[in-house]
Amino acid sequence: MRKVLVTGGAGYIGSHTVVALIERGFEVVVVDNFCNSSPLVLPRMAEITGVEPQVVEADLLDRSALDDLFSVHQFDAVVHFAGLKAVGESVQNPLLYYKNNVAGSLNLFAAMQAHICLNLVFSSSATVYGDPDSVPIKEDFRLSPTNPYGRTKLMVEEILADLGNANPQWRIALLRYFNPVGAHPSGSIGEMPNGTPNNLMPYITQVAAGTLQQLSVFGDDYPTKDGTGVRDYIHVMDLAAAHLAALLKLPQQETSVRAYNIGTGVGYSVLQMIDAFETESGVNIPYTITNRRPGDIAECYADCERSKRELGWRAHRDLVEMMRDQWRWQSLNPQGYR
Ligand code: NAD
Ligand code: UFG
Repeated sequence: MRKVLVTGGAGYIGSHTVVALIERGFEVVVVDNFCNSSPLVLPRMAEITGVEPQVVEADLLDRSALDDLFSVHQFDAVVHFAGLKAVGESVQNPLLYYKNNVAGSLNLFAAMQAHICLNLVFSSSATVYGDPDSVPIKEDFRLSPTNPYGRTKLMVEEILADLGNANPQWRIALLRYFNPVGAHPSGSIGEMPNGTPNNLMPYITQVAAGTLQQLSVFGDDYPTKDGTGVRDYIHVMDLAAAHLAALLKLPQQETSVRAYNIGTGVGYSVLQMIDAFETESGVNIPYTITNRRPGDIAECYADCERSKRELGWRAHRDLVEMMRDQWRWQSLNPQGYR
């Protein structure tokens, strides 16, 4: 493995993974349409690594642009991040999600097949499990996503399973991420959501920065340790390392398609997250308890034994690092990359 195409490599998780790949000596080409990212991330990546990745501005819906890309470059593997990820938006506009995430992926896989590039790491999500019967969640649990976004992830997983059946030469790792948070420790790359954040951590840091007034805690009557929702938060640097591990392992992967949970195995409640942030930053987070957010589940955390055993990967960074790095990024870049 030497040359890798990273779709969505300008985005939050993609940019951290591109940095990890470059630092490991891979030649990286990014394809991104910048629909949810900024080209200004590129010089930041170069600042960290000393190498500016090659970038092609293109949409995965443009099949001929993908064919051109595969004709110019001989890729050993693809890491496929490009997709839309806002659950609420997917409920409002399902066609946009099915088109972008499913049709875009189909174009990519068709180009890969045509150019005989059969190694793939795919960004799936813990959302494919829906509301699990028990925790921690194992990879062989029932898959039943509860919203269109989650269904796009499951559909792509199923398409990939069929591809692997049709041609056992494919080597495909499905990485089911739990809740990515944090930023590069340099503070120069991170996530800056457009508009008001949907996710807990960017919401907390924007309240801390004074951009937002207070946090709404969505329900305190769940059957959890303190009544608030419990999630498996994972540092984005650990997540980037998981992609590297999966990529390096692909040639030895025993089956053509394999799913891996990528989390820490530990669940924290919303109140624990607020407390950890306040302790680390010294900034108070005003909050009120409001109604549950429709579609939310009580508890979600991973059993990560398979990734430990088969990928030789595990998360190393704790809550303190997640808080510190997220806050550093927010403080240094109040306007994101602008
Ligand atoms: P992101 O929005 O920051 O990155 C996605 C990137 O893909 C963006 O740069 C965007 O411009 C690009 N993109 C989207 N559609 C495209 C298209 N049709 N053609 C070309 N580029 C396109 O999101 P992220 O948080 O980095 O997530 C990366 C992947 O991980 C996504 O597939 C997401 O569904 C998945 N995921 C994210 C989370 C999370 O909480 N962040 C959790 C589980 C899974
Ligand atoms: N929460 C609040 N207030 C907020 C935002 C969130 O109390 O303003 C709570 C939620 O109710 C939940 C927890 O904080 O209990 C985490 O919520 P997030 O929105 O940060 O994350 P989710 O677990 O709901 O979903 C995320 C991604 C999904 C992905 C899923 C699993 O947004 O796309 O993780 O990977 F599918």
